[in-house]
Amino acid sequence: MNPDPNVGSHRPLHRLIICTTCRREGSPVDAPSDGGRLHDKVQALFAASPDRRGFVVTGVECMSGCNRSCTVALAAPGKPSYLFGGLPPSDETAVDSLALAIQYRNSADGDLARRSRPSSFRRGILAKIPAAFAS
Ligand code: FES
Repeated sequence: MNPDPNVGSHRPLHRLIICTTCRREGSPVDAPSDGGRLHDKVQALFAASPDRRGFVVTGVECMSGCNRSCTVALAAPGKPSYLFGGLPPSDETAVDSLALAIQYRNSADGDLARRSRPSSFRRGILAKIPAAFAS
Protein backbone atom coordinates (compact mmCIF):
# COMPACT_ATOMS: atom_id res chain seq x y z
CA MET A 1 0.00 0.00 0.00
CA ASN A 2 1.27 3.42 -0.94
CA PRO A 3 1.21 5.79 2.07
CA ASP A 4 1.23 8.91 -0.12
CA PRO A 5 -2.40 9.98 -0.72
CA ASN A 6 -1.30 11.90 -3.81
CA VAL A 7 -0.11 8.79 -5.57
CA GLY A 8 -2.09 5.73 -6.45
CA SER A 9 -5.51 5.32 -8.01
CA HIS A 10 -5.83 8.97 -9.10
CA ARG A 11 -4.28 9.30 -12.51
CA PRO A 12 -2.78 12.75 -12.92
CA LEU A 13 -4.84 13.87 -15.90
CA HIS A 14 -4.27 17.60 -15.44
CA ARG A 15 -1.01 19.24 -16.44
CA LEU A 16 0.49 22.51 -15.33
CA ILE A 17 3.12 23.24 -17.96
CA ILE A 18 5.89 25.79 -17.58
CA CYS A 19 8.26 26.87 -20.30
CA THR A 20 11.76 26.31 -18.99
CA THR A 21 13.51 28.31 -21.70
CA CYS A 22 11.67 31.63 -21.46
CA ARG A 23 13.83 34.73 -21.04
CA ARG A 24 12.28 38.06 -20.28
CA GLU A 25 13.51 41.16 -22.03
CA GLY A 26 16.78 42.30 -20.51
CA SER A 27 17.44 39.00 -18.78
CA PRO A 28 21.20 38.22 -18.87
CA VAL A 29 21.91 35.48 -21.38
CA ASP A 30 24.54 33.89 -19.15
CA ALA A 31 22.14 33.58 -16.20
CA PRO A 32 19.69 30.72 -15.67
CA SER A 33 16.57 31.24 -17.76
CA ASP A 34 13.61 32.99 -16.16
CA GLY A 35 11.35 30.12 -17.17
CA GLY A 36 13.71 27.59 -15.66
CA ARG A 37 13.75 29.50 -12.39
CA LEU A 38 9.96 29.72 -12.36
CA HIS A 39 9.68 26.02 -13.12
CA ASP A 40 12.03 25.17 -10.25
CA LYS A 41 10.04 27.32 -7.83
CA VAL A 42 6.74 25.74 -8.85
CA GLN A 43 8.20 22.23 -8.65
CA ALA A 44 9.49 22.91 -5.14
CA LEU A 45 6.10 24.21 -4.02
CA PHE A 46 4.35 21.30 -5.68
CA ALA A 47 6.60 18.76 -3.95
CA ALA A 48 5.76 20.34 -0.58
CA SER A 49 2.05 20.77 -1.28
CA PRO A 50 -0.49 18.64 0.60
CA ASP A 51 -2.74 18.70 -2.48
CA ARG A 52 -1.08 17.17 -5.53
CA ARG A 53 -4.00 14.93 -6.37
CA GLY A 54 -4.79 14.54 -10.05
CA PHE A 55 -2.22 16.83 -11.63
CA VAL A 56 1.42 17.07 -12.50
CA VAL A 57 3.83 19.93 -13.08
CA THR A 58 5.93 19.60 -16.18
CA GLY A 59 8.47 21.73 -17.99
CA VAL A 60 8.75 22.12 -21.73
CA GLU A 61 11.14 23.99 -23.96
CA CYS A 62 9.12 26.74 -25.65
CA MET A 63 5.39 27.11 -26.16
CA SER A 64 5.77 29.74 -28.90
CA GLY A 65 5.03 32.63 -26.60
CA CYS A 66 8.66 33.74 -26.44
CA ASN A 67 7.94 37.45 -26.81
CA ARG A 68 5.52 37.19 -23.85
CA SER A 69 7.80 35.37 -21.37
CA CYS A 70 7.35 33.67 -19.00
CA THR A 71 4.64 31.33 -20.23
CA VAL A 72 2.51 28.85 -18.29
CA ALA A 73 -0.14 26.50 -19.68
CA LEU A 74 -2.86 24.17 -18.45
CA ALA A 75 -4.23 21.11 -20.22
CA ALA A 76 -6.53 18.21 -19.42
CA PRO A 77 -8.76 15.84 -21.37
CA GLY A 78 -12.23 17.26 -21.96
CA LYS A 79 -11.31 20.74 -20.76
CA PRO A 80 -10.12 23.85 -22.59
CA SER A 81 -6.38 24.39 -22.64
CA TYR A 82 -4.92 27.72 -21.60
CA LEU A 83 -1.71 29.59 -22.32
CA PHE A 84 -0.71 32.55 -20.17
CA GLY A 85 2.22 34.87 -20.76
CA GLY A 86 4.02 37.91 -19.47
CA LEU A 87 4.58 36.30 -16.08
CA PRO A 88 7.58 37.28 -13.94
CA PRO A 89 9.48 34.34 -12.40
CA SER A 90 8.50 35.49 -8.91
CA ASP A 91 7.44 33.67 -5.78
CA GLU A 92 3.96 35.13 -6.26
CA THR A 93 3.70 33.71 -9.79
CA ALA A 94 4.81 30.31 -8.49
CA VAL A 95 2.22 30.29 -5.70
CA ASP A 96 -0.50 31.49 -8.07
CA SER A 97 0.47 28.86 -10.66
CA LEU A 98 -0.23 26.08 -8.21
CA ALA A 99 -3.46 27.72 -7.06
CA LEU A 100 -4.56 28.02 -10.68
CA ALA A 101 -3.78 24.36 -11.37
CA ILE A 102 -5.86 23.29 -8.38
CA GLN A 103 -8.71 25.56 -9.49
CA TYR A 104 -8.52 24.04 -12.97
CA ARG A 105 -8.51 20.49 -11.63
CA ASN A 106 -11.49 21.23 -9.39
CA SER A 107 -13.52 22.84 -12.17
CA ALA A 108 -15.88 20.35 -13.80
CA ASP A 109 -15.76 22.07 -17.19
CA GLY A 110 -12.29 23.64 -16.90
CA ASP A 111 -13.63 27.15 -17.31
CA LEU A 112 -11.47 29.70 -15.49
CA ALA A 113 -13.36 32.98 -15.36
CA ARG A 114 -11.00 35.94 -15.26
CA ARG A 115 -12.15 37.30 -11.92
CA SER A 116 -11.92 33.91 -10.22
CA ARG A 117 -8.30 33.33 -11.22
CA PRO A 118 -5.34 34.06 -8.91
CA SER A 119 -4.17 37.65 -9.41
CA SER A 120 -1.08 36.74 -11.46
CA PHE A 121 -3.37 35.13 -14.04
CA ARG A 122 -6.07 37.76 -14.43
CA ARG A 123 -4.14 39.27 -17.32
CA GLY A 124 -1.80 37.87 -19.89
CA ILE A 125 -4.00 35.13 -21.29
CA LEU A 126 -2.62 34.31 -24.73
CA ALA A 127 -4.93 31.45 -25.69
CA LYS A 128 -7.96 29.50 -24.56
CA ILE A 129 -8.32 26.49 -26.79
CA PRO A 130 -11.56 24.48 -26.66
CA ALA A 131 -11.32 20.87 -25.59
CA ALA A 132 -10.70 18.49 -28.46
CA PHE A 133 -13.53 16.25 -27.26
CA ALA A 134 -16.22 16.50 -24.62
CA SER A 135 -15.39 14.62 -21.47
S1 FES B 1 11.02 30.24 -24.91
FE1 FES B 1 9.26 30.18 -23.59
S2 FES B 1 7.60 30.30 -24.99
FE2 FES B 1 9.35 30.23 -26.29
